[in-house]
Amino acid sequence: MRTALVPTMGALHRGHLRLVEMGLRTADRVVVTIFVNPQQFAPGEDLDAYPRTEKADVEKLRAAGAHLVYAPALLEMYPEGFCSTVSLAGPAKADLEDKYRPQFFEGVATVVAKLFIAAGCDYAMFGEKDFQQLKVVTRMARDLSIPTGVIGVPTVRADDGLALSSRNEYLSDEERATAPLLHRTLQEVAADVRVGKDITRACSGARDRLKQAGFRPDYLEVRVADSLAPVESRSETELRVLAACWLGKTRLIDNVAV
Ligand code: PAF
Repeated sequence: MRTALVPTMGALHRGHLRLVEMGLRTADRVVVTIFVNPQQFAPGEDLDAYPRTEKADVEKLRAAGAHLVYAPALLEMYPEGFCSTVSLAGPAKADLEDKYRPQFFEGVATVVAKLFIAAGCDYAMFGEKDFQQLKVVTRMARDLSIPTGVIGVPTVRADDGLALSSRNEYLSDEERATAPLLHRTLQEVAADVRVGKDITRACSGARDRLKQAGFRPDYLEVRVADSLAPVESRSETELRVLAACWLGKTRLIDNVAV
């Protein structure tokens, strides 16, 4: 019997349910974990404010056909004296998310390694919305010989293109109306790069357009899709446009294929 793991921090939306759906298509049993992992939040980030909706989450998972929910307590994941973490390089040090959230990937990789080992699942489903996370976790599982195949699932979007995220609920009505511009702008950059326009110029123009609309970009870059390294030659096969922007007090991330 094949099993698929869907690691989450709860506050489930259609994006998570798509991961469950893809898990059900890939394996016979789907295990979902719900754990808001303090190790991936820096001091001052939204750990305390992060939405916690466990009862509703379990109902959604039941309706979606998940077989098991594991929602460990903090001390179960991090017992007294916990002091071992996963150390990362490669896609975790790409100067993208890691530049703005320096402890994020170590926290993610550590909890994901623990969940992979505890669950012993054949597959694990991760959304492409967190593209760098997907690459970091894929590399980590391969490097540490954890026999769980990481499967990336395309981003689920609202009708206006905004990538679904638990943090979207922090947006005011006005910000929510502006937010889809991020995805549109990434698509414009991808289209520019596809027709051979200068990558640096396409990215700086896009950052300017976002600023004019009220976003505060942390980064907007085109990278080699697999390694997330900077693009050195246009013959690189697959490229990805990735961005993180603040809109008011909400940080949005998104990415599209070129
Ligand atoms: O993407 C998330 O929700 C989290 O980073 C994850 C993978 C569940 C680890 O805490």
